[in-house]
Amino acid sequence: MNENLVWHNAGITRQNRERLNEHKAVVVWFTGLSGAGKSTLAHALEGELYKMKCRTYVFDGDNVRHGLCGDLGFSDADRTENIRRVGEIAKLTVDAGLITMAAFISPIKKDRDCVRGLLEPEDFIEVYCRCSLSVCEKRDVKGFYRRARSGEISNFTGISSPYDEPENPDLVINTDKISIELSVSRIISLMKERGVFSVSV
Ligand code: ADX
Repeated sequence: MNENLVWHNAGITRQNRERLNEHKAVVVWFTGLSGAGKSTLAHALEGELYKMKCRTYVFDGDNVRHGLCGDLGFSDADRTENIRRVGEIAKLTVDAGLITMAAFISPIKKDRDCVRGLLEPEDFIEVYCRCSLSVCEKRDVKGFYRRARSGEISNFTGISSPYDEPENPDLVINTDKISIELSVSRIISLMKERGVFSVSV
């Protein structure tokens, strides 16, 4: 970091924005294999939150990798950098008062822990979208598993690149067993328990 920089404190704070929004800001971080349903759940959650008049934004790997992280591939180092950038952005969007959903494979435990470490403990909810490799592979929505098996795509998570299962996620959703609606309601219940929707004026 350049030492000739001085942090500028905004007059309007996160708390001001949260009061205006009538909810707190938080990061809901979805991790899991490709095809486990992370983006689907993140967007379904956003739909429900929109009905509840919450201010939200979803970041997901496939989209972010078209722009902000378009220079990154799938080596461990590039994945670490991908998650680092998204973590920093999520920190900013939380300061902006948004309920931020992030849907990234984020296979490296250390990287997920780094994002958690960037935020206050209550600002990070880790949701593990648990789905067996065989089900993800059977779904193969993007055809990537087939290509990874044939060797056409290298370093593919679950096939030729590891996935560290979360040891202590805030929530586990078995996406091959329960519906999207039930998954969303479980997440919203946890957010309620965490006080996301109660803002004191
Ligand atoms: S992460 O590992 O750095 O967190 P991220 O979530 O951004 O990954 O991107 C994953 C998406 O990129 C997958 O859903 C898939 O569509 C695509 N993809 C392309 N190549 C790979 C690969 N080698 N491993 C995993 N996903 C890949």
